[in-house]
Amino acid sequence: MEKQPTTEKSRDQFVSRIGFIFAAAGSAVGLGNIWRFPYLAGLNGGGAFVLFYLICVIVIGFGLMLAEFVIGRHTQLSSVDAFKKLDKRFTFVGVMGVLAAFIIMGYYPVVGGWSVAYIFKIVLGEFSTEPAVMGEIFGALSGGIMSPIFWTAIYLIMNIVIVAKGISAGIEKASKIMMPTLFALLVILVIRSVTLPGAMEGLRYLFVPDFSKMTGEVMLAALGQAFFSLSLGMGCMITYSSYLSKKENLVQSAIIVPAMDTSVALLAGMMIIPATVALGFDLGQGPGLVFVTVPAIFATMGPVVGRIFGILFFVLLTLAALTSSLSLLEVVVSYLIDNRKWERKRAVMITSIILFLMCIAASLSMGIWSGFQIIGKNIFDFLDWFANSLLLPIGGLFITLYVGWFWGKDKVKTEVTNNESVKFAIFNVWMFLCKFVIPIIIALVLLSGIGII
Ligand code: TRP
Repeated sequence: MEKQPTTEKSRDQFVSRIGFIFAAAGSAVGLGNIWRFPYLAGLNGGGAFVLFYLICVIVIGFGLMLAEFVIGRHTQLSSVDAFKKLDKRFTFVGVMGVLAAFIIMGYYPVVGGWSVAYIFKIVLGEFSTEPAVMGEIFGALSGGIMSPIFWTAIYLIMNIVIVAKGISAGIEKASKIMMPTLFALLVILVIRSVTLPGAMEGLRYLFVPDFSKMTGEVMLAALGQAFFSLSLGMGCMITYSSYLSKKENLVQSAIIVPAMDTSVALLAGMMIIPATVALGFDLGQGPGLVFVTVPAIFATMGPVVGRIFGILFFVLLTLAALTSSLSLLEVVVSYLIDNRKWERKRAVMITSIILFLMCIAASLSMGIWSGFQIIGKNIFDFLDWFANSLLLPIGGLFITLYVGWFWGKDKVKTEVTNNESVKFAIFNVWMFLCKFVIPIIIALVLLSGIGII
């Protein structure tokens, strides 16, 4: 880049390109990578889940992300309006995406709240290598009444202030510093984790597939995780790419963003699973895994060093979660502003009140309301499953079908190659993915995951 003549224009584009990659990666990298991926891997048999997850990222993640980029950049509109303009029959895909964002935001802030709470727990030295002690600390927080609701409210207020002021762009700039720091911290913690005595067993669990564990349910969990982690299937990436210049190389971006997201997820897995096994924690414990195991890693580092790393970790986790939940809240708010003609402040306020009520229900469902179940899941797990294992894959199915079958090959090619000015050697392969491979995989995994086949 430096070698180009430094006209204003070329500098601007360099800035905007990195800016876009970081905004998209900021949306993708969040609780999905560090909280959800490791606990699902622990719960769903390790290697088999990870293998199928990686297949989903490579085949579906790349193909669908590119499809979303192409739609967004072509229409220069946010998701609902983009579909309305391209083909009215597909408008429901955009609307379903808004619903998915809304549902995810009905529990995501609960986990964001835990992360904020843990900053203070680490400050107070509430960490130990004892599974029973750590389980107690997490159980008291997540199963409590007022305290988790309080921290959820704090987390939600951070989102509200940022979105109401329309300053998310500033936060995304900050993520240019934050993400490399998070990455470096994860590498250090992975090294600490895998050098614990007995950690190798954990690494083996994570990476050596046990094919007897590859059930329809496990595959659906991995598929849903790929969508959730990459922020796909609900038009988030359509909206982001609607701000892109016609010169941007979409194919490159659709490789870089999933690659960054997946490296963070794998690092998080390599940090958490080996330590979980080495320290004798329960691998299949579900949503508490990160909050129980990671502080135990800090405890092995001694009270001072452990505190420093621990505080840094939960501050960065909170910030990573924020850049993701901002993108979700923004999807809902901009829909109300653009399509329902609401004022920004009103849209943020009303949305947030409803989200807060949903979050209260989700939080209580981890404690006193745990007896209330929908299809065998508490409210928290139901919201998570409904959005990620159902709405996102269905959304992704229709987005790829649209690009593969309805838009017109020539129009797609013109857009993705910037009017034939960049090469895209595997265009036909990608079209084949959108036409057949991705929709068929999604349909089969959906049907077998729900238990229909
Ligand atoms: N990908 C984010 C995470 O891993 C969550 C997220 C942000 C998301 N925007 C999204 C998930 C859009 C699905 C769709 O934490």
